[in-house]
Amino acid sequence: MWRTGGWNVMTEQKKRGKAILQVQDLTKRFGGLVAVNNLTLDVCEGEICALIGPNGSGKTTVLNLITGIYEIDGGSVTFENAQIQGEPPHSICWRGVARTFQNIRILGGQTVFENALLGKGYGNGGSGVLQTVLDTVKFRKERETFTAEVDEILEFVGLSDLRNERARNLPYGKQRILEIGRALITKPRLLLLDEPAAGLNSKEIYDLMELIEKINDRGITVLLIEHRMELVGKLANLVFVLNHGSKIAEGSFDVIKEDPAVIEAYLGKGGN
Ligand SMILES: Nc1ncnc2c1ncn2[C@@H]1O[C@H](COP(=O)(O)OP(=O)(O)O)[C@@H](O)[C@H]1O
Ligand SMILES: [Mg+2]
Repeated sequence: MWRTGGWNVMTEQKKRGKAILQVQDLTKRFGGLVAVNNLTLDVCEGEICALIGPNGSGKTTVLNLITGIYEIDGGSVTFENAQIQGEPPHSICWRGVARTFQNIRILGGQTVFENALLGKGYGNGGSGVLQTVLDTVKFRKERETFTAEVDEILEFVGLSDLRNERARNLPYGKQRILEIGRALITKPRLLLLDEPAAGLNSKEIYDLMELIEKINDRGITVLLIEHRMELVGKLANLVFVLNHGSKIAEGSFDVIKEDPAVIEAYLGKGGN
């Protein structure tokens, strides 16, 4: 049943577990631009995989296709053995796929707790969603359970102390962590992170790295888009490299970083 991604995957596949996410021949066009070109990759249960590539190589588009934000033009996306392409984002989220965004999406005027609670409504903004979650009779009964779950996650990501602080008052690094916390509220089995280290200082990157490892230890599979190579090198079991929408390499960080095509496409352009 499990289809392998290409010749280089076949050998590694033997050592890997069961695929949780399979992207097969995925294609996305924007007018004349092929943003994602026949992309095939597998992420297996329990792994931390990284998707890297120069700016504009199609990384965010891949996440938008997996999570149903964009319609695909070709290929398929399989999560836990079910094809999910064509499903709306909230149903993909209910299946157990959560994500964060490249540009931070938190409500600055709401507290840390309220922002995390938004994960329950699968909302990405707007006080309407928050009010619904807080006030609707249907949800009122569930609020106690929600509160306990949110507090557990805030503890887990290390934001308990800031629970009642307005999100805008948090340092940038903690706002990023809050976004990850909000994604965890949905109890995902696959977490997709889009450049979580962007804009962070070295101490914050270290904390982020520890958190991603902790999340993975909790049994959550991670697919990480990242341009900070130290993070990719430390965290990723397997790295996929995109250039102009196509996969140009796949392998361990130590292998792909020596790959001339990768050096030419990515590192050679002054990427870090
Ligand atoms: N909604 C969109 N409409 C038109 N072009 C887009 C859209 N989203 C992305 N693109 C284009 O697709 C290419 C890949 O973008 P993106 O996936 O954001 O790259 P990356 O995340 O690797 O930097 C870029 O050329 C970008 O301009
Ligand atoms: Mg991007």
